[in-house]
Amino acid sequence: MLQCWRALAIPLLVSIASAFAASSQSFENSAIVRTVDLGGSLVHVTTTFAARALEPNANAYTITLTEEEIHRTSWLEVKVKGQQQPLTVTYGGGLPDSKFYNLDVQLPSPLELNSTVNIVLETIQTHATYPWPERATQQDEQALKHNTTLFVLSPYKTNVQRTKVKTPSPEVRSYTTPKDVDAFTLESPVTKSGATITYGPFNNLPVSASNEWIAKNQQLISMHYKYDYPVLELTKVKRAAEISHWGANLNIQDDIVLYNAGPELKGHFSRLEHQTQSFYKRSAAHVIPSLSIHLPAGIHDVYYYDLVGNVSTSRLRTAPSVPKNSKSNQYSVMELRPRYPLLGGWNYSFTLGWDSPLEDSASYDQTTGKYIVQVPIMTDLPGSVTNDCEVKIILPEGATDVEYVLPFPAISTEESTHVTYLDTLGRPAITFKYKNLTTKHAKSIYVSYKVPFSVHFRKPIAVATALLSLFVFGMVARRVDLTLQKKTA
Ligand SMILES: *[C@@H]1O[C@H](CO)[C@@H](O)[C@H](O)[C@H]1NC(C)=O
Ligand SMILES: *[C@@H]1O[C@H](CO)[C@@H](O)[C@H](O)[C@H]1NC(C)=O
Ligand SMILES: *[C@@H]1O[C@H](CO)[C@@H](O)[C@H](O)[C@H]1NC(C)=O
Ligand SMILES: *[C@@H]1O[C@H](CO)[C@@H](O)[C@H](O)[C@H]1NC(C)=O
Ligand SMILES: *[C@@H]1O[C@H](CO)[C@@H](O)[C@H](O)[C@H]1NC(C)=O
Repeated sequence: MLQCWRALAIPLLVSIASAFAASSQSFENSAIVRTVDLGGSLVHVTTTFAARALEPNANAYTITLTEEEIHRTSWLEVKVKGQQQPLTVTYGGGLPDSKFYNLDVQLPSPLELNSTVNIVLETIQTHATYPWPERATQQDEQALKHNTTLFVLSPYKTNVQRTKVKTPSPEVRSYTTPKDVDAFTLESPVTKSGATITYGPFNNLPVSASNEWIAKNQQLISMHYKYDYPVLELTKVKRAAEISHWGANLNIQDDIVLYNAGPELKGHFSRLEHQTQSFYKRSAAHVIPSLSIHLPAGIHDVYYYDLVGNVSTSRLRTAPSVPKNSKSNQYSVMELRPRYPLLGGWNYSFTLGWDSPLEDSASYDQTTGKYIVQVPIMTDLPGSVTNDCEVKIILPEGATDVEYVLPFPAISTEESTHVTYLDTLGRPAITFKYKNLTTKHAKSIYVSYKVPFSVHFRKPIAVATALLSLFVFGMVARRVDLTLQKKTA
């Protein structure tokens, strides 16, 4: 994803940037429409480029993102409108002092002269809103601010472009009116209708991906809007996924630090006031009594504790196991109810864990003699961003030939050995690190490995030795032996 493109930016910069210079006359944008769907932790931005080929065999289209867009974007996908298959995108970087970055999109087939294509860029931005005012009382509504740049940049001429900003409710406290845009429109540069603010249409824009054009014309626009939902950040999630063939179990445990990114509470928190508001269903969005987390289907023995101890006030609705590789989107829902409502600016640390039958996520490949296990990267707390995510996959003792496939590149990968009680060899473990994850990243890592046959016996022997040293009576030892044989069978 972008994370790795950023790392790649420097070496790619020169060659690709110069390859572009020649192709900047190959298209013209008949129309650009950008739609900004404002949320709390996540802002969804979709831009459609209707492009006309000015050269025969045009097969690469360049999308330009501003500096701020590239920093905020944590997920992106480019498609031809109406098609399912995402297009290959190369991060072309920008010239060293430029205020913009190029993405080079490979079209599925070369275009004929004068033919058109509609290219859709879908992105999720994180950390793109902030509470305003920064502090609010328990009675105050929650409001957020977002800012972005007025013009969509392009290395091609554009006949017409507009930006539609959709707010969650029609209650918009303020929005910017652009200045000095007479060159591109004779009408009002901004209009509001219900929950949509439209900037433009702006006509006859020249090539705008240039520092001079940006310095002269680009400007910041901002919106201040009411937001009635929690603004949640998972500042840190450490996941440990432990595969046990011995117990036929996959245990997943998440150590989570949650942050309420809404306005900080002004004054004291009153529980009475909160209960009264909840009763009349007009609780402030920045006072969060509970959260719904999506967990996998088929889980059991779910536990949830915080620094004080077990939290027993939560509710769980489990979905039954689903067959492997089925397209079913079933999930369990855990409603977490912390001891105290989570107020704006507060952090809350807790641990959530569960077991699931290994057969729900593991399969055995006869031809290679390897097990393949699917481990979800993250727990989905809808609408939230996970700033720092660490996934540690702990394989069975003695596992060899370890390979993995990631749905998107990790920032770092580390191999280690995890030793627990009764292990003789230690367990191979792999740790993957990610940043700025969203719902779009709720995918799985696939790990494959071999477990030599002899390893299956090592654990029973270790258990038996430990037990034998505890219970000296032969009768007890015989009963233990029997149960062990049943389990390994
Ligand atoms: C392409 O369009 C331009 C202007 O619309 C026209 O002048 C030209 O003849 C067209 N070329 C072809 C090959 O259709
Ligand atoms: C994650 O988001 C933060 C805040 O927007 C940004 O500063 C950081 O560069 C992002 N990191 C990655 C790896 O995308
Ligand atoms: C624009 O938004 C960012 C956060 O998304 C904020 O840090 C910055 O101060 C804002 N800039 C202006 C000029 O409001
Ligand atoms: C939490 O509950 C589990 C079982 O439900 C129990 O085994 C454990 O001892 C409890 N821990 C605390 C700190 O109360
Ligand atoms: C929450 O955690 C962040 C660091 O992740 C820290 O900067 C902040 O002060 C904490 N807030 C409170 C209220 O403890």
